Amino acid sequence: MNENNTGYKNIKEMAPSAEPERQYYFIKETKKLLKNRFEEYKTSFGTFPKYCVVTFGCQMNARDSEKLSGILKELGFSETEDETEADFVLFNTCTVRENANDRLYGRIGRLKHVKAMNPHMIIGICGCMMQEPDEIEKIKKKYPQIDLIFGTHNLYTFPELIYDLIMKREGESVEIADLGNDVLFSSDYKGRHNSGKRVISVWKDTKDIVEALPNDRKYPFKQGVNIMFGCNNFCSYCIVPYVRGRERSRKPEDILNEVKALAEDGVKEIMLLGQNVNSYGKNLPEPMSFAELLSEVERIEGIERIRFMTSHPKDLSDELIAVMAASHKICRQFHLPLQSGSSSVLKRMNRVYDKERFLERAEALKKAMPDIAISTDIIVGFPGETEEDFLETLDVVEKVRFDSAFTFIYSKREGTPAAKYEDQIPEAVIKDRFDRLLALQNRISEEECKKREGKTLPVLVEELNPHDSKLLTGRLESNGVVHFEGPKELIGKIVNVRLDEAKGFYYMGSLND
Ligand code: 5AD
Ligand code: SF4
Repeated sequence: MNENNTGYKNIKEMAPSAEPERQYYFIKETKKLLKNRFEEYKTSFGTFPKYCVVTFGCQMNARDSEKLSGILKELGFSETEDETEADFVLFNTCTVRENANDRLYGRIGRLKHVKAMNPHMIIGICGCMMQEPDEIEKIKKKYPQIDLIFGTHNLYTFPELIYDLIMKREGESVEIADLGNDVLFSSDYKGRHNSGKRVISVWKDTKDIVEALPNDRKYPFKQGVNIMFGCNNFCSYCIVPYVRGRERSRKPEDILNEVKALAEDGVKEIMLLGQNVNSYGKNLPEPMSFAELLSEVERIEGIERIRFMTSHPKDLSDELIAVMAASHKICRQFHLPLQSGSSSVLKRMNRVYDKERFLERAEALKKAMPDIAISTDIIVGFPGETEEDFLETLDVVEKVRFDSAFTFIYSKREGTPAAKYEDQIPEAVIKDRFDRLLALQNRISEEECKKREGKTLPVLVEELNPHDSKLLTGRLESNGVVHFEGPKELIGKIVNVRLDEAKGFYYMGSLND
């Protein structure tokens, strides 16, 4: 024990302080630690121990999960989709609405029995929900089956935390590094009770962006690329700025090098990701606009389609619209979250635009690109929303004619300004409004879908149809889904498909090359 202890201390002391070198060092040390155990496991079970990363929430989380998955693969774990047969389960959480939290607790509750049968099993939780101290307290009290907790700001320290966890399980007294950041929660944070063999490490914030961690890409032909992290907008209902921190843009050269490498690797479509991509680059040492970044990305050979998410209507510039309209690669698709059509609700949401400005921006997009598909997010039942306010939302939906809309029931998030607003709306009223909105949007989506019927358009072929292996499934520039017959060799290619029949939310088509 003593000897080990010196070993642990030495290894921590010898770790490089620069990143990502430090994390690669812990990957190497953890592999050494696990080598014999993994080989024994393989002899008994025929595979290496399995891991499962379960992702909740948005595309940013999906992108983070690829990094987590990459690290676990690098350590020698093999992947499984089934969390009940995994030896290492990691939940990457979302907390934007309450029901995401409830779903998570259901899943970890069910794993308690699985873990009782497999004492080596590790269960970890990370992501946005772990930036909320109340949730961590709840897990500490009620979910002893959780071994590892970390937050959004220290996701990149995952290798070091796994190393610490394994050592802690062996009886070491481990020290969780804060790496110069303010700690929100830690299993060995001063004054806090050290909870058994768990490792907990959550930071308040960080200024760092750590590049070049291992990565496990989901599709060979399309890829999300982070361009910025965090959000400075503080919409009054939204918890994201509290759990993802302030806006930080990646350096343009890092983004462009990543996209170039992806293109060389055969990627055709990239999705630039950020909570608010329109404010990309404002805080860089040499500021650069999002439109300028897009123009640079456009020049990269091999990339055929560019998408981005999410844009805030208040920052949608004419410059961006012009770059899009002139581009041959940026898809004619725009996600423009409305949230509400009522100027007074928008004001209380702190959205900074009003109904007229939103309509004007949507019109500007359509004028520059008549074939553009606009999608949106709408919240129903924001505190104080009157019937008149709601009718304004329906009015915008009628006028803009979104191709699709993600509609959400307002969810009260503690710590946000709107949680304190009076006039929370009764459930029955919200449900009625939600149903009316959905019925209207469904009708419009179907009508918009129908408009493309008969056209022949390029489709990026993504997969064999999961329900009928004679069919391939792909996506239009508009992001619409198309099913058509064809050989599976076309997966990953862009082909022309005739849209024979609009089916409301997807098309049945035929290959037309
Ligand atoms: N309640 C309901 N929906 C919300 N969103 C963000 N916060 C909340 C909340 N508290 C929605 C917004 C946002 C999308 C990602 O989630 O519509 O655009
Ligand atoms: Fe939340 Fe508003 Fe930021 Fe979007 S822009 S993440 S809704 S605070």
